[in-house]
Amino acid sequence: MEESLSPTSIVNNLETSFVGQRVVYYPSLTSTMEVAKREAQQGAAEGTVIIAGEQTAGKGRQERTWLSPRGNIALSIILYPSAAYLPSLIMLASLAVVYSIESVTGLKPQLKWPNDVLIKGRKVCGILIESGVRGRKVDYAIIGIGINVNLWLADFPEISPIATSLSDELGREVPQLDFIRRLLVEVEKLYLTLPSGESIYQQWRDRLVTLGRRVQVSWGKTRYEGIAESVARDGSLLLRCPDGSLTKIVAGDVTLRDYV
Ligand code: BTN
Repeated sequence: MEESLSPTSIVNNLETSFVGQRVVYYPSLTSTMEVAKREAQQGAAEGTVIIAGEQTAGKGRQERTWLSPRGNIALSIILYPSAAYLPSLIMLASLAVVYSIESVTGLKPQLKWPNDVLIKGRKVCGILIESGVRGRKVDYAIIGIGINVNLWLADFPEISPIATSLSDELGREVPQLDFIRRLLVEVEKLYLTLPSGESIYQQWRDRLVTLGRRVQVSWGKTRYEGIAESVARDGSLLLRCPDGSLTKIVAGDVTLRDYV
């Protein structure tokens, strides 16, 4: 049976002070990112969440589409951080997803740079950050999170070689409402720690399965190969290339090669 994801059921006694205190729910929507952007431009309250029962044109990174049928979680969170905190949003969003998966299901997810959440090497969640920036001023930032929750991969052969879902991993469905509420609490908790500096970066770095691995990084038509040596505080990847040079990569998709 389809769970109720009504704003009231999400917000009722939610242990946050602003994230998720306003929820706008659409049973079906093109993309929560589009609505969140419009809302942010109109000055929606910080922490407003746009959530969709299903998305018909979910947006992924690098202009890809994101499969977002009913049973999955697709939501966007509106924030107004200072420019200094923008690079940390990727880190905090992926950590919030990891901690929520651990707490609701007991599964042990991993992070692949920059923000893919994996279970046993397959992608269970994708994160998209969009922001409106003028000079050094951030008008808004939106964290978009898509999680394969109650998705049976056998029904989606087009993604089954690279994706997994919480239901497939557990062999049972997962309560979406509990998951969403946990996620909103984790996002706020981590967001509030941003002014204290180090901690989110360290937690994120310690969770990355990418470090120390031979990887290929692609962005559009550009490809790099090398050893993922470390990550900088701004979230970029430091790649040791075959000629010994160190390349700083700001964005890209990583394919993990052999262990080194
Ligand atoms: C990726 O390519 O890994 C990022 C996928 C991000 C998907 C989420 S689902 C909620 C939000 N709305 C969208 O249209 N995209 C993001």
